[in-house]
Amino acid sequence: MNLSFINLSLIFLLFTTSTSVSGKIFSDHISPDFTASYLTGDGNTGTFLVSRNNTFKAAIFNPDKQQTSFFYLCIIHSASNTIIWSANRDAPISNSDIVKLTGEGITIFDKNGNSKWSTPTLKSQVKKLSLTEMGNLVLLDQFNHSLWESFQHPTDTIVIGQRLSVGSSLSSASSSSNFSTGNYNLTITSSDAILQWFGQTYWKLSVDSKAYRISHDDIQYMTVNTTGFYIFGHNETVLVYQLGLSVTNFRIAKLAYNGQFTISSSQLSGESLKQEFVGPNDACQIPLACGRLGLCNDNTLSSSSSSPGCSCPSNFHVASGNSGGCVPNDGSRSLSLACTNSSTNNHSQSVVSFLSIGYGVRYFGNKYSDPIIYGVNLSVCQGLCSSNCSCLGILYRNSSGSCYMIENELGSINNGGEGDMLGLIKTNVRFDIDNEETSQKDGFPVIAAVLLPIAGMILLMVLVFFVMWRKSRKSKKQEVKLGKQISISHSSCELDSDPFSIPGLPMRFDYEELEVATDNFKTLIGSGAFGVVYKGVLPDKTIVAVKKIINIGIQGKKDFLAEIAVIGNIHHVNLVRLKGFCAQRGHRMLVYEYMNRGSLDRNLFGGVGQPVLEWQERLDVALGTARGLAYLHSGCEQKIIHCDIKPENILLHDHFQARISDFGLSKLLSPEQSGLFTTMRGTRGYLAPEWLTNSAISEKTDVYSFGMVLLELISGRKNCSFKSRSHSMDDDHKNSNGNNGNSSNSSTTGLIYFPLYALEMHEQKSYMDLADPRLEGRVTIDEVEKLVRIALCCVHEDPALRPNMVTVVGMLEGGTPLPQPRMESLNFLRFYGRRFSEASVIAEENEHGSAMMQQLRDSTRFVSGFSYMSSQQISGPR
Ligand SMILES: *[C@@H]1O[C@H](CO)[C@@H](O)[C@H](O)[C@H]1NC(C)=O
Ligand SMILES: *[C@@H]1O[C@H](CO)[C@@H](O)[C@H](O)[C@H]1NC(C)=O
Ligand SMILES: *[C@@H]1O[C@H](CO)[C@@H](O)[C@H](O)[C@H]1NC(C)=O
Ligand SMILES: *[C@@H]1O[C@H](CO)[C@@H](O)[C@H](O)[C@H]1NC(C)=O
Ligand SMILES: *[C@@H]1O[C@H](CO)[C@@H](O)[C@H](O)[C@H]1NC(C)=O
Ligand SMILES: *[C@@H]1O[C@H](CO)[C@@H](O)[C@H](O)[C@H]1NC(C)=O
Ligand SMILES: *[C@@H]1O[C@H](CO)[C@@H](O)[C@H](O)[C@H]1NC(C)=O
Ligand SMILES: *[C@@H]1O[C@H](CO)[C@@H](O)[C@H](O)[C@H]1NC(C)=O
Ligand SMILES: *[C@@H]1O[C@H](CO)[C@@H](O)[C@H](O)[C@H]1NC(C)=O
Ligand SMILES: *[C@@H]1O[C@H](CO)[C@@H](O)[C@H](O)[C@H]1NC(C)=O
Repeated sequence: MNLSFINLSLIFLLFTTSTSVSGKIFSDHISPDFTASYLTGDGNTGTFLVSRNNTFKAAIFNPDKQQTSFFYLCIIHSASNTIIWSANRDAPISNSDIVKLTGEGITIFDKNGNSKWSTPTLKSQVKKLSLTEMGNLVLLDQFNHSLWESFQHPTDTIVIGQRLSVGSSLSSASSSSNFSTGNYNLTITSSDAILQWFGQTYWKLSVDSKAYRISHDDIQYMTVNTTGFYIFGHNETVLVYQLGLSVTNFRIAKLAYNGQFTISSSQLSGESLKQEFVGPNDACQIPLACGRLGLCNDNTLSSSSSSPGCSCPSNFHVASGNSGGCVPNDGSRSLSLACTNSSTNNHSQSVVSFLSIGYGVRYFGNKYSDPIIYGVNLSVCQGLCSSNCSCLGILYRNSSGSCYMIENELGSINNGGEGDMLGLIKTNVRFDIDNEETSQKDGFPVIAAVLLPIAGMILLMVLVFFVMWRKSRKSKKQEVKLGKQISISHSSCELDSDPFSIPGLPMRFDYEELEVATDNFKTLIGSGAFGVVYKGVLPDKTIVAVKKIINIGIQGKKDFLAEIAVIGNIHHVNLVRLKGFCAQRGHRMLVYEYMNRGSLDRNLFGGVGQPVLEWQERLDVALGTARGLAYLHSGCEQKIIHCDIKPENILLHDHFQARISDFGLSKLLSPEQSGLFTTMRGTRGYLAPEWLTNSAISEKTDVYSFGMVLLELISGRKNCSFKSRSHSMDDDHKNSNGNNGNSSNSSTTGLIYFPLYALEMHEQKSYMDLADPRLEGRVTIDEVEKLVRIALCCVHEDPALRPNMVTVVGMLEGGTPLPQPRMESLNFLRFYGRRFSEASVIAEENEHGSAMMQQLRDSTRFVSGFSYMSSQQISGPR
């Protein structure tokens, strides 16, 4: 059969006969031939088809009541009035235009009979059009086989039951009322879900602190269901990412018109959507947060609700018109043209120049791209940009000579970048040869005219240099192309090739460099199981913590480097970042980012005069630590068991953001070394019972330690505290509901074993007694109960009964229901507690207690199990 003939006859048919009755709302399906328009729909909603149970409807809908010719064929969730799909997003119609269903599919015609949108050519004749209860609009043939489905052609939204497959994308709408394809894309790649704007990545699911990577399978599709958001691997039983959310019956994942990827849900009919997740959460990370070249005031704590503060860089002013953004004060400079073609017009010529947008700037795209080249001077960097039409500006870092390129389109910029990061925007100066007047700066064109050929030469040199550099890096798998963005999966590599060809090693430092940076190891800021930590300042003014490793079990340099490569590639907001290392002449040093608030123990147990850590801050620390651990356990290539979670290893950054340090180091330890035993004894309060018996060490061992830290966050003091209980109850708690002092066996003054006390208070539902008295009631009983219950579940004696860290995060966030602690697995605390109170007789009023603690450790018998441990257990499986 001749299809074009059919098409012609169709159009003819359209204007002669319409078989189906319009004005009626069909349920479940309609059969060809059928015609609908907004006017022939059900009066004023344009609805012509509903799903069997009325959950979804198909309608010709106008989102903007001001406009009379912007109608779309839409699928709408009835209860929440949410548009989940539109057919003709880029070809809106008027209220009299027609949607027609024929044996060939669906076609939308304007009043002149021109097709504005249609389904593609189908394999066989359409027998019916069905709208399913999930919201899928399906064309079926006579055998009920699907010929075409709206679920296969998502616009900006997916719903429960729909899948977004690897390689496919969602595209945002232009605005809330204009559904035409906007400039933001969400794409599912084989390893991630990424947001892009004109080819520049501005968010990745894998880097979002809320997402959990469960496995490293290649991704197959993304979906939502009533309990959460999921990304599945090739093997459909394997989850790659997951985001547990509250149970609901309608949920969508949508790329909003402003560029944010959102997940929202509604539970009840008539209820509007509630947002459950948003990425990026920081509004300044949205490419056009402040318009083109607007300066977004970076506010790391900004939530989705707080709109960013926008301003213009100096030498720029707010652009006129409603496009927003900023333009240079120097009006002659046009930013609109990326490249000019001077050969077309002999009377005007244009040259490239660079205009500064200041120091300390950041561009959203650079977070996810590596410099196009390292170790060059500014003019080389400018030269690379000048000669490239897609380059619109550069960011240049003097200390490392890193050169980043801004490509394709210019978005907003952030302040709050590294101090020596200079931003330059490529500008096009047009000046008429006939009329020199318009040229602003004297002599400028001359400079530019000289600069261009030089830039070309420099480019050539850089090319040669780059090719040589590439050769030296040939062993690396990573593909590096000139000008091509380097994937961030491997951390940045310096130009010098590493001798052992281990991919992904972080930056190497010479011993001498670190000696200078730390002023000959002058400022000691900590010491721990693995060695001592010094404060240092790198030549680029970054402050770092340099850890000199002493107790090292791994002998070979290569093994050491292999471990470092693993640690160096772990990036998470709640993990202290390894910036580099030194392995030279027997020295083993690690260079970490510096955390300005120090460790949790100092902030939490701080002495007199130290401000009290507020409840919300404690919650933030708990959640951050839990997320960091969850990432170590299930987010990395290899599972990493920390083995030494304690407040000393939880460092705090600005705003009390928690970051875990020393992860991955337990692999470096050798149990034969005495250092280990010191460590384990030093942190005995956090050690899970399985350390003392012969059972295997697993990630649940960290869960136990986390539970112990959680208890300390609640009480604000060490679990093995020497403060007398009666003192704390009389003075600090006013309303203990007559439960005062009833708590049995360890009621001696002098020492309390807080985990046991927490268990007893849990049994009596007297949670307020557990809260840090210094909070003076600035916490509710529900909040304390929540943390106590989570903590008790984490310290279950049986590791199998402890939740995993992903679940703990869910509980802390509130998405996962709170569990009931299991008494049968907590009774061991009573035994521990008794030991403590016996030992406390010798401890008495010792306020600081360190000497006493040592004595206590030595005298307490249940530490004797150490000899059972094999080296395998101590380093732990990865
Ligand atoms: C429609 O609703 C009825 C009653 O609420 C329910 O039993 C049935 O499963 C629903 N059908 C579909 C397709 O959801
Ligand atoms: C197609 O499906 C409908 C409803 O599900 C059913 O009534 C009909 O018999 C089916 N037709 C064929 C040919 O399977
Ligand atoms: C909708 O957005 C598109 C693309 O941005 C634009 O071309 C069109 O004019 C807009 N329509 C209306 C009614 O604003
Ligand atoms: C979004 O993705 C589509 C399909 O991959 C592509 O054609 C389009 O150019 C992208 N849009 C932008 C603004 O990057
Ligand atoms: C949602 O999907 C997840 C992952 O497959 C699954 O574990 C969960 O049971 C699903 N929820 C429902 C209600 O089907
Ligand atoms: C999918 O994964 C499950 C569990 O890991 C495994 O049992 C099954 O064999 C896998 N299937 C395929 C096709 O790989
Ligand atoms: C520049 O102009 C020439 C001649 O008009 C044309 O052939 C060429 O494609 C143009 N180049 C660009 C980059 O526009
Ligand atoms: C530009 O100049 C060349 C010779 O210098 C001449 O042949 C050409 O016609 C001129 N083009 C225009 C547009 O004036
Ligand atoms: C920048 O580096 C290039 C090549 O390394 C060199 O030729 C040029 O002189 C340098 N420019 C400045 C200003 O140092
Ligand atoms: C410009 O730079 C981009 C990215 O760095 C690169 O992909 C492109 O090939 C370059 N174009 C030219 C003409 O060099």
